[in-house]
Amino acid sequence: MSIRKRSLPGIHTDEIAKARLPLPSGYTLPRAAYTSKEIYALECEHILRKSWLPIARIDQVPEHGSYLTLDLLGQPVMVVHGADDEIRVMSSVCLHRGAPIAQGSGKRNVFTCPYHAWSYDTTGQLRRAPLMEGAEDFTENAHRLPQIRSEVWEGFILANLDPDAQPLAPQIAAFTDYFKNFQMGDMFVAKTLTFDSGWNWKVLVENFMEAYHHIAIHSTTFEPVFHARDSRVPDNTGPWSILHMPAAFEEMPPGSATIAGLEDWQAKDLFASVIFPHFMLGIHGQGAAWYQVIPAAANHLTLKIHLMMPKSAAEHADFESMVAEMAESVSAIHQEDIEANDLVWVGLNAPMTEQGRLSPLEKSIWQLNQWWLDKMLGHD
Ligand SMILES: [Fe+2]
Repeated sequence: MSIRKRSLPGIHTDEIAKARLPLPSGYTLPRAAYTSKEIYALECEHILRKSWLPIARIDQVPEHGSYLTLDLLGQPVMVVHGADDEIRVMSSVCLHRGAPIAQGSGKRNVFTCPYHAWSYDTTGQLRRAPLMEGAEDFTENAHRLPQIRSEVWEGFILANLDPDAQPLAPQIAAFTDYFKNFQMGDMFVAKTLTFDSGWNWKVLVENFMEAYHHIAIHSTTFEPVFHARDSRVPDNTGPWSILHMPAAFEEMPPGSATIAGLEDWQAKDLFASVIFPHFMLGIHGQGAAWYQVIPAAANHLTLKIHLMMPKSAAEHADFESMVAEMAESVSAIHQEDIEANDLVWVGLNAPMTEQGRLSPLEKSIWQLNQWWLDKMLGHD
């Protein structure tokens, strides 16, 4: 047995013990895990700032000089496709007086700070600082934007703010193998849908990870094609979880363009997978949907749903309508999930709400909760 190294403010040891029970006896996390600002601050410290977080696709920075910017847990960051073909993630804060040197996305070989025109190349090296001639011991060469650990996995660019983090790829080798036939590295983002939501990020992730709720909130949309009772979750061997939703139909609908090289079950079934903490991927025979979660506070997040298609699909005569159709069905399902998550958020904020029993169909939630407790309590 591991020794508990930390306590969690507002969470009782009895509540932790209940969340630690095996799945057949299992309970949800206590409501403070979702609603407490103190817990969120600890999550930032022990989970979000120490985990591999997906921040872009390489197809979003396709050429030398392509860049995009984002806020990574309070740090302005840019992802740059260097002139040397390296993809880099770095702080975008000017080394002079702290103004971010880039906004939005685009393509350029020199990044010039709008405040005093210090300019940097695509590696983050300072190239020119005007009117600094009288500054003693100052050379441009000695100044480079701080670099952030990054990895490219299946075309996704992931960043980790912890310089000592273990590399991601070896931790998710079995996960990579499970989905290798889908060739996600060969996909591109065809369309992005953006939502702002007033819930904790784990409410969204947990909703994504189980198919039990198909019987009620998705009773006319998902349930007829992906029965809740048929869903299954393999044991995980790393920081990830896979929800496999076998299709209730025998044959693919005629005319369905599926990814080449898939086995029958891969072409028909639906998969909701999460690399912890919140790298959510809906994977199916026509493509994938990357649910990019951007937590902002205990009770606020932005979600970008990136609809990804194989590059070969762009050649298809019906490409535009395929993307429109995918956007419509993903939006319709997500509207139903928004309704569910809004309800959950009311309950999690109510003082009488206690931990609920988990269904054996909610194994993914249990898997995430064990990982979350390990990280938060310092057990790993
Ligand atoms: Fe759902």
